[in-house]
Amino acid sequence: MDSVTLSWSSARHRARVWRFPREMFVLCKCTCRAAPGPSSIGADVCLHGFSHVYGLPEHADSLQLRDTRDGEPYRLYNLDVFAYDLYSRRGLYGSVPLLVAHKPDRTLGVFWLNASETFVNIRYSPTDHQVAAAKPRSQTPETDVHWLSESGVMDCVVLLGPGPRQLFSQYAQLTGYQALPPLFALGYHQCRWNYRDEADVKAVDAGFDRHNIPYDVIWLDIEHTDGKRYFTWDPALFPDPVGLQRHLETKNRKLVVISDPHIKADPDWSLFCEARDGGHFVKDREGRLYRGSCWPGECCYVDFSSPDTRAWYSSCFGLDRYKGSTPSLHVWNDMNEPSVFDGPEQTMPKDAVHYGGWEHRELHNLYGFYQHMATLEGLITRSGGSERPFILSRSFFAGSQRLGAVWTGDNVASWEYLKISIPMLLSLSVAGVAFCGADVGGFIQDPDPELLVRWYQAAALQPFFRGHSANVTKRREPWLFGVTVTAAIRTAIQQRYCLLPYWYTLFHQAHTAGLPPLRPLWVEFSRDPSTFAVDHQYMIGGALLACPVTEAALREAQVYLPGCGELWYDVHSAKAYEGGATLSLPLTLDTVPVFQRGGSVVCRSTGSGSCTAELRLLLLSLQGAADGELYLDDGHSFSYRDRKAFCLRSFSLMSDTNGHSDAQSSLQAV
Ligand code: GLC
Repeated sequence: MDSVTLSWSSARHRARVWRFPREMFVLCKCTCRAAPGPSSIGADVCLHGFSHVYGLPEHADSLQLRDTRDGEPYRLYNLDVFAYDLYSRRGLYGSVPLLVAHKPDRTLGVFWLNASETFVNIRYSPTDHQVAAAKPRSQTPETDVHWLSESGVMDCVVLLGPGPRQLFSQYAQLTGYQALPPLFALGYHQCRWNYRDEADVKAVDAGFDRHNIPYDVIWLDIEHTDGKRYFTWDPALFPDPVGLQRHLETKNRKLVVISDPHIKADPDWSLFCEARDGGHFVKDREGRLYRGSCWPGECCYVDFSSPDTRAWYSSCFGLDRYKGSTPSLHVWNDMNEPSVFDGPEQTMPKDAVHYGGWEHRELHNLYGFYQHMATLEGLITRSGGSERPFILSRSFFAGSQRLGAVWTGDNVASWEYLKISIPMLLSLSVAGVAFCGADVGGFIQDPDPELLVRWYQAAALQPFFRGHSANVTKRREPWLFGVTVTAAIRTAIQQRYCLLPYWYTLFHQAHTAGLPPLRPLWVEFSRDPSTFAVDHQYMIGGALLACPVTEAALREAQVYLPGCGELWYDVHSAKAYEGGATLSLPLTLDTVPVFQRGGSVVCRSTGSGSCTAELRLLLLSLQGAADGELYLDDGHSFSYRDRKAFCLRSFSLMSDTNGHSDAQSSLQAV
């Protein structure tokens, strides 16, 4: 029963069928290329014995993919969608064409490497409806997956696990491992569209110290530039950007600035002229510069698909070229689907022409990936190859994990958007994009204080942790809502900082083994079918289970603690609970349900300090015998890679006959 059937067809080939046995890593390739213009290529994959499939981000929907018979297919087409619809299969900012199937004794993946517009239909047999109606199950369950792409060649890999860990490793071998972020990037980020001027930035920075709230990075949105010309500064509002960065740097804090892919079509601006004269812009079908509108008005779009153009763009981040930048400046690539306000579906027309004569339709879903790549290269080169940069991108594709972080775009300040952020981040994690987060508080509209607190609590337990808000919303720095709210947010952020040694170790695992820090329960409890559809709670690594509160005025949380025979400890009260049952936990505004698995060691910092530079370590173990791991390095450079300057320790604790625990540790490398 453990086999995969694949049939495919294109405009030029008759349908073919292959059936693959159990222990195979399968690569299916067909290299015919259609002529310019729309064409299509498709394949049907039948997953015998499976009734749960996941992946295919980005959609604002459940973690388990739905049967698409009663509605639209999942669409993979990168688009700028402000306040996107919830529970929808329409395309959002990024795409990863990886589908993961799971059942108790098997996990497998189907990777459809195609960057053109793609639709995926899913059919479960029997349907949920039939199962609910207790229809006799004459057949073994199966899931049919139909892939249809507008263009390109057939390049499909079936990853045969057999377990989730092997699957993540196989996928990472194909598309790359998560970049190891600099430690500061795992701290809290404070963003807004826009912090007005240098005095505003310094006041917000001082506010964090005054209120004893740790944070590492403050962000500047589009208004920091001179007329939305990226790589420049508004001379009146930001007259001394170097002074500003030095000021932050004295406290070990960083600045992130936005850099979008559209370039203001201004013949009096040297950067525009350089790009135009160097042939670095996308062309229209007649071979003229393609022009579209975005924040600055009329713009041209950098053609990141060209290696020469990427090299040119990277060079723009050189400290000598990017006036006002310093080594503590990091970057945010936004609007890179690409967003074109007057384009079809607010993006670039499919017949625009890229490097090598390729039509935009062929590589649409790769556009943002390539910008992310060029920016990364620019910041690495800026330091002579020694420092790990941080770059956030809105658009992404398979492999974007190698480049930095992504976030879920323009969400709304409502409970429903807080709730959907969890399955959205789990889907990204399953598809390899492990450094991900959602705007805390919701980008659009104003959150009420309870929602804001609950959002901070949830996001403090997710990989990328950034507060952000739109220009028309009210200011919402953590101390603006009274002492109770300030205290609750302070606690959430401080607890995040205390857990950073653990997060950093998990990112080391993502970087070396492809294991995502955020894991659906079924990744850790792969034989327990009652975990397969859970997407409101999740594991942070193998040791912590989180169940963020995502409903207003909730007085009691229902938390499923998996694993018969497991013990779970409430991290706040240290009270122990047996696994294999659902727990009712009374809630106050301060309660965030987090449980540590018995037998695990979690490395924490003894205090939160004012930023990641001040972390101090402590080991916390629960249950008599316990195991865990700690990864440490300098937190910012590539020395861990180039000089093996890191420390990886495994801890084993054994209790003696009196119940006292003894720590043994083994040093893996220094
Ligand atoms: C887009 C981004 C948002 C940003 C805004 C202005 O809407 O998603 O995060 O603040 O553009 O740059």
